[in-house]
Amino acid sequence: MVLAVLLIHAVLLPILFYGMIRVVRTAQEEVFVDHVRIYSRVFADLLQTSDTLMTDDEVIAHLDSTILGGRCVHAALKLDDRRLHSTVMDSDDEEDFVEDFHFGEHDDGVYYLSVPVFFGESMAVLELGFDEEPTALEIETARTTIRNIVLSYLLVSVIFAILMSNVLSKPLRRLRGDSRLIASGDYARQISTNSTIFEIAELSRDIEHMRSTLVGVNARLEAEIVSREKAESERRKVERHLRHAHRLQSIGTLAGGVAHEINNVLLPILLYTDLALEDLPKDSPVRPNLERVVRLAKRAKGLSEQILTFGRQSGDAMIIVPDLAPLVDEAMSMVRALIPASIEIALDIERPVGPVLCNPNEVQQLVVNLCSNAYKSLLKGAGRVRITLENCCVSAKTAENFTRLQAGECVRLSVSDDGEGMDPATMERMFDPFFTTREVGQGTGLGLSVVHGIVVSHGGEVVVSSEVGVGTSIDIYLPRVDDQEHGSERRLKI
Ligand SMILES: Nc1ncnc2c1ncn2[C@@H]1O[C@H](COP(=O)(O)OP(=O)(O)OP(=O)(O)O)[C@@H](O)[C@H]1O
Ligand SMILES: [Mg+2]
Repeated sequence: MVLAVLLIHAVLLPILFYGMIRVVRTAQEEVFVDHVRIYSRVFADLLQTSDTLMTDDEVIAHLDSTILGGRCVHAALKLDDRRLHSTVMDSDDEEDFVEDFHFGEHDDGVYYLSVPVFFGESMAVLELGFDEEPTALEIETARTTIRNIVLSYLLVSVIFAILMSNVLSKPLRRLRGDSRLIASGDYARQISTNSTIFEIAELSRDIEHMRSTLVGVNARLEAEIVSREKAESERRKVERHLRHAHRLQSIGTLAGGVAHEINNVLLPILLYTDLALEDLPKDSPVRPNLERVVRLAKRAKGLSEQILTFGRQSGDAMIIVPDLAPLVDEAMSMVRALIPASIEIALDIERPVGPVLCNPNEVQQLVVNLCSNAYKSLLKGAGRVRITLENCCVSAKTAENFTRLQAGECVRLSVSDDGEGMDPATMERMFDPFFTTREVGQGTGLGLSVVHGIVVSHGGEVVVSSEVGVGTSIDIYLPRVDDQEHGSERRLKI
């Protein structure tokens, strides 16, 4: 803006300056020329008023008075071959007299002009010269004054332009700063310029409107992204659970079929071996071998029963058990026989806990399998296993993390240890049938898969948390049933 003002003034002010100077000079010069010409004519008329010819002294006296009374510097009268001139003049150099038509024409500082004077029949020529210097000085003074006025005007204009551009650009600069901050991600910044300039205030309002619209759109998009991400992670979780459930189901079906067939073979083996033992004399050397066959066949039968339990083909009925505490007590007495005395068992059992629709044998199997794993994780054969049984309530928020269990009243059985813990790879596969990290002959890898099968068949959930070197905690949630259903017997289909 300042530059534009400077450019406009650079073009206009010289034109204005020279135009004004020209007008003043022309006016001054014309006034000078008019004055001297009128003065000369009046003076000439004064000389020729008398009817008789003036004497030379009278003429000279008139010429002197002309010089003494005004700006006249040269006064002479040419009459025939005579030349009379004012005595006030320093000299009368006839050569100097060069008649002027315009002001300052011959650059000699004097405006010369001649006027005819008639004395009766004869004519004389009055030669007068006027000093141009005062008029030239006046023109110069006017020039200086005009120049000063123009320069002052230029200065005031530039200062005004600077002030105006500042007033105009300040809200615009603030608007630009705010816009940049918003563009760089500070969406919460509000735009308010408080400008008195209508257009800027309007612009600011429009940008603020756009910002608030964009913020709304942005918030909606962010919320949508978050909800989509949540839905996606939920979908992946469900997918993982489904894959796992499918894998377990197919293995369970296969294992159940195999166990059934093995059972079919084992039963006649046991039967015929028993018959053979009955027929054998007590001291027969074959007897110990046959007894070994019976033992091994029974062990194989135990294994196939575990496999059947995992495959949910045990066929046992479920009943509503009003209190799980006695069941767990009974299971713990078996566990105590299993676990070395160096291991501390801490029991925290609420009474009563339930009622729960369950298969009592399977619930006891849960306790035994979990405790067996817990004590096996205590590498040095010492440590603590903690068993907790309590009623609890699963909130809707917690239920979101479970695929089977619904929000509501539950029973929680927790078995925790401060043993070796599990790494993520082991945790990923721990429920797989026949997955074990134990040495050959030390574990079948069926313990947790049986636990999983039982819990699933009861409509419950298993939650495992474990850290290597810290320990493991396995929580089993089983849904509680209505008290009115006590004593009834029913099957739960999963
Ligand atoms: N409390 C625990 N602490 C550490 N690791 C455990 C625990 N429970 C289970 N595991 C790991 O999970 C694997 C599978 O356990 P699972 O009970 O299915 O089989 P197993 O204990 O190896 O064999 P079995 O139960 O027939 O004795 C175990 O080999 C072990 O690596
Ligand atoms: Mg086990």
